[in-house]
Amino acid sequence: MAHRVCPWWMGYLLAGPIRRLLENPKKMLSGFVEPDMTVLDVGCAMGFFTLPTARMVGPQGRVIAVDLQEKMLNSLRRRARRAGLLERMELRTCSDTDLGVDDLTNQVDLALAFHVVHEVPDASGFFAQLYPAIKPGGRLLLAEPEGHISTDEYAVTEATAQSAGFASLEQPEFRRSRATLFEKR
Ligand SMILES: C[S@@+](CC[C@H](N)C(=O)[O-])C[C@H]1O[C@@H](n2cnc3c(N)ncnc32)[C@H](O)[C@@H]1O
Repeated sequence: MAHRVCPWWMGYLLAGPIRRLLENPKKMLSGFVEPDMTVLDVGCAMGFFTLPTARMVGPQGRVIAVDLQEKMLNSLRRRARRAGLLERMELRTCSDTDLGVDDLTNQVDLALAFHVVHEVPDASGFFAQLYPAIKPGGRLLLAEPEGHISTDEYAVTEATAQSAGFASLEQPEFRRSRATLFEKR
């Protein structure tokens, strides 16, 4: 499986209007994100999912956005400030093996991991670090890009999440992705 990290300049395309024509983040997240939730967006890049999530959780909600690349987070910070959403967001830089979420034990209602796991060198460690941050009964929404990740590779990723303790609930239909909604039991 590929572990090459997406270059920072790709962040502009990933958060840009062309992608929005193909994928509607608000529609994709509706039914998963609710007002007042605490949502953790891992591998957030420049915020294609982070900003709509911050709107959907509302002023009493919280979005913690984590990424490896400072340049992704700098752009996300500017976009969030312009949109008046920065106050309900917390941006964190992580390392490739440490998500830096140890302080969030049982605080997260929903974790988003969109198109990031194939870039992570240790998927087991990734899911093992996410697990304690999520509340019991909380959810993890995983999506991997169909173009990069085969059915077999995705099955391995899903099994890795299950080994960390996540139970698969459903496989949402997202265009250009393979996706699973998990629950922390
Ligand atoms: C392909 S982009 C996807 C971005 C976003 N989730 C989306 O769907 O638009 C992957 C992002 O994950 C970040 N990333 C890669 N490895 C990571 C790691 N080990 N921990 C956290 N973020 C990572 C990259 O810096 C990049 O911003």
